[in-house]
Formats: sequence, structure tokens, C-alpha cells
Amino acid sequence: MLSDERKPRIGIVFYSRSGTGRAVADRLATSSGWPLHEIRDAVPRMGLSGDLRCVADRLLGRRPSVRYAGPSLDIYDHVILITPVWLRGLASPMRAFLDTQRRMIRAYSVICVMSGHGGFRAVDDIATQIGARPRSILLLRQHDVLAGETDGAVCRFKRQILAAAGPASPIEPLLPAVD
Ligand SMILES: Cc1cc2nc3c(=O)[nH]c(=O)nc-3n(C[C@H](O)[C@H](O)[C@H](O)COP(=O)(O)O)c2cc1C
Repeated sequence: MLSDERKPRIGIVFYSRSGTGRAVADRLATSSGWPLHEIRDAVPRMGLSGDLRCVADRLLGRRPSVRYAGPSLDIYDHVILITPVWLRGLASPMRAFLDTQRRMIRAYSVICVMSGHGGFRAVDDIATQIGARPRSILLLRQHDVLAGETDGAVCRFKRQILAAAGPASPIEPLLPAVD
């Protein structure tokens, strides 16, 4: 249990291939002061060959090599995962990262960025991998992020996290969500 005096330790971990998730992560980190950690591709996914590798990784269920210089996630009471949707599911680099860190996560929330569809399935992929459901979910369209129209939603999400990250409770059981 957290003592009443100690503020919950909250960290943000994001993967972003083309910058949308990074913009959301930057905004959330700036407005909250929560530390920000990036998952990077070991082999950058530039251009058409990068596109094709995204599709192949996703279709074949591959776990591509990633780089992560952040701390083990067990130092946090609550982790916010930010990821794009790929082929109506979880982007492969986040899946690869969670393979190594999922057991370290005590409680978590998810922000998915996408063109328009598949966010709930990506969240379901994460919940299945971690074996527990997220406290809060935010699905954002890339168009809205790039137009600067998601600041209010990110701010509300931050307030939800602060409310949910209060006293530590055992991680909640899995509840699948499919859109
Ligand atoms: C291989 C691939 C598959 C994608 N599949 C979907 C999809 O199924 N649904 C969707 O809404 N967007 C899809 N997208 C779009 C991305 O989710 C969207 O552009 C997102 O904002 C990218 O985030 P990022 O800039 O942080 O990498 C896909 C993108 C790629 C590269």
C-alpha cells in the first residue's frame, strides 16, 4: 500500500514511428511533469521498406528488436503506455517491449494513436499480454492530434490517471475490449 504522504510514481513510456504518439507523450509529460521514456526501433523504419516491415512484423506476429534506455517499470506505481495502432492491433515494437517488461507493471493506462480504427483491439492486445486490464484508455485520431485538437482530452486523461493512481490496489483482472 502507498502511504498517504507519498505521491504515486507515474511514468510514461511511448513508441512512435512517425511522431504522432511522440507529440501526445510530449504534451502529457510537459503538463504533468511525469518522466518520459522512449522505445526505439533497433532498425529505423524509414520509407517504403519501413512500411513493409511494419506490415510484415504485424502479420507474422514478430517481436522486432527495440532499444529502451529507461528504468525497469517496477519503479512506477502506474505506467502510461502510448502506442500507435497497426493493422487494427498493437504496433509490434510495443509488443516486443512488453515481452520484456510486462511482469514489472503494477498498474497501467493506455493511449492509442491511430488513423481511425482498431484502438480497442490494440488495447485488448496489451491487456492480454500483461494479463490485466488498464485503469484508463484514451484513443486519439492522428488527424486530431496533428490539428492540436486533443489537448482537452489529454488533460482529462491526466486527471483520471491522478484519481486512479491514488492508493495502490492489486492489478485488476483482464476484461477484454474489442471495437
Ligand atoms: C503498418 C501500419 C498499419 C496501420 N494500421 C492502422 C489501423 O489498422 N488503424 C488505424 O486507425 N491506423 C492505422 N495505422 C495508422 C497509424 O496508427 C497512425 O498513423 C498513427 O497515428 C501513427 O502513430 P505514430 O506517428 O506515433 O507512429 C497504421 C500505420 C501503419 C504504419
